Amino acid sequence: MKWWQSSVIYEIYPKSFYDTNNDGIGDLKGVEKKLPYLKELGIDAIWLTPIYLSPQIDNGYDVADYRTVDPMFGNNQDLKELIDRAHRLNIKVILDMVANHTSDQCIWFKESKKSKDNYFSDFYIWKDPKPDGSEPNNWAASFGGSAWTYVPERSQYYLHYYASQQPDLNWENPLVRQYVYDAMRYWKSQGVDGWRLDVITQISKDLTFKDVPTTDSNKKYIPLKNTSGPHMHKFIHELNQQVLKPFDMMSVGEAPNSNIEEILKLTSPERDELNMAFSFEHMRIDKAIGKNGAIAVKKPNFLKLKQVLSKMQYELNSKSWNALYFENHDRSRIPTRWGNDTEYRYESATAFATILHGLKGTPFIFQGEEIGMTNPKYSVDEYEDIDLKNKYQEQVKEKHLLTTDEFLKVEHKIARDNARTPMQWNNKKNAGFTEGKPWYKVNPNFTEINVESDKLSKKSIFRYYQQLITLRHKEDILIKGDYQELLEDDKNIFAYQRSWKNKSWLILVNMTEKDLSLNELHDNLKNYKKIILHNYLNQKLEDILKPYEAYILEK
Ligand code: NOJ
Repeated sequence: MKWWQSSVIYEIYPKSFYDTNNDGIGDLKGVEKKLPYLKELGIDAIWLTPIYLSPQIDNGYDVADYRTVDPMFGNNQDLKELIDRAHRLNIKVILDMVANHTSDQCIWFKESKKSKDNYFSDFYIWKDPKPDGSEPNNWAASFGGSAWTYVPERSQYYLHYYASQQPDLNWENPLVRQYVYDAMRYWKSQGVDGWRLDVITQISKDLTFKDVPTTDSNKKYIPLKNTSGPHMHKFIHELNQQVLKPFDMMSVGEAPNSNIEEILKLTSPERDELNMAFSFEHMRIDKAIGKNGAIAVKKPNFLKLKQVLSKMQYELNSKSWNALYFENHDRSRIPTRWGNDTEYRYESATAFATILHGLKGTPFIFQGEEIGMTNPKYSVDEYEDIDLKNKYQEQVKEKHLLTTDEFLKVEHKIARDNARTPMQWNNKKNAGFTEGKPWYKVNPNFTEINVESDKLSKKSIFRYYQQLITLRHKEDILIKGDYQELLEDDKNIFAYQRSWKNKSWLILVNMTEKDLSLNELHDNLKNYKKIILHNYLNQKLEDILKPYEAYILEK
């Protein structure tokens, strides 16, 4: 077993974690200061979202210099000290490599845009306009509008899958790849243990650059299936051979749109690509196409959740390794999204945690998840995310596809900013996040929901997470045990067995706020006498599963 297979990894969004110099922005010294808190929680590794020099158009996912820590977070020495301190506490450190694109403020791009024949000209993807001067094709950018922006100096357009300030790198150019690998080796020399690889499945482009076929004449720009391009596996394998393998660094790739076959290819050890990949499919169970084609949310389809997660468990078992998550900096808070963030906040937070941490794979926790933080209900001007702002402009202001209320109804459930509000440490000023003016509005519910009061509560979500993590460290069955789904057709109860050697565990979770009868499971249940973990205070298995009740039981 590799260290990351028996680990629980904690994702930190440094900007919103803890501020030590009172400029209102979280910093690396803040992360260092909170290491004892993370040790107490029990996690084995931290993943820091990008901390490099950046104009912060997309909160650091627009890198201007891969080798320099942005002054807002501190400096390179602070990162070194954080890594050393973490290592002394036996906590590994994972950085985020954003290598599909850079910032337009990166020196490579600044040079590239000057002419067609300088050293950096070919570092990005440049194309001539169509004869009428328009974009080279109809590809849409993820954050709205065209995926191409015109630069007069070159009389050409450059490609950007995200904002125009995030030009895509040209991975076909071997020099680009060497520059990226070198940056990763540099951080290895500073002690970094592994990588989360941002949208790594988008690095290889469709080199025909053809229009996406469409019948919709109203739409000028069409979303492209922009993952798994022709050279993706070749490039990732090369990255593996030149950086990950020789320097023994762990890797988890972000894999939007990849199906299970692709995930298997990316993560099967004999292919020497990545250790793990974040799949997206299970996070789509509440997404729908709404009015005028805009994204909408619907009641989560838990049957689908069970099917998708179970399929991953079966298919990856013994062939590769799962990356398990429900929350991250691009997703919203689970108690609000799938559970009940008022009456059953504790129960629903711990119920979904039990489902996730009972599975085979490496669980990832996003900051604040361990105290059941919830989505705030912000107004449009209280959101900060470029993606949301652009969508609002396009869908509400320009095209009138939705009203502001309709737009907000969706975003209150799924906006990325829901996860990016400052960490709630206590009930004092700014939730104890900063003494200054927070860069982003603190969720007003911090007076009730915060680390300090959670730990004092009888129903502590933090303590429940501690128990889940301790179990993973103590019990081989959670790491190595086979998975077997039960009650496949039940849309309310998630039930599965894990078995290892002569041990068998049952994970049993009510995903609703209704009382549910356990009749169907009865014969099976009789065998499971010992309660390993339970999110209600009584210590007896009854015939009814109460709202969001969750058990781990042993035969
Ligand atoms: C995925 C990151 O998680 C997200 O926050 C970012 O906006 C995009 N990649 C673009 O880098």
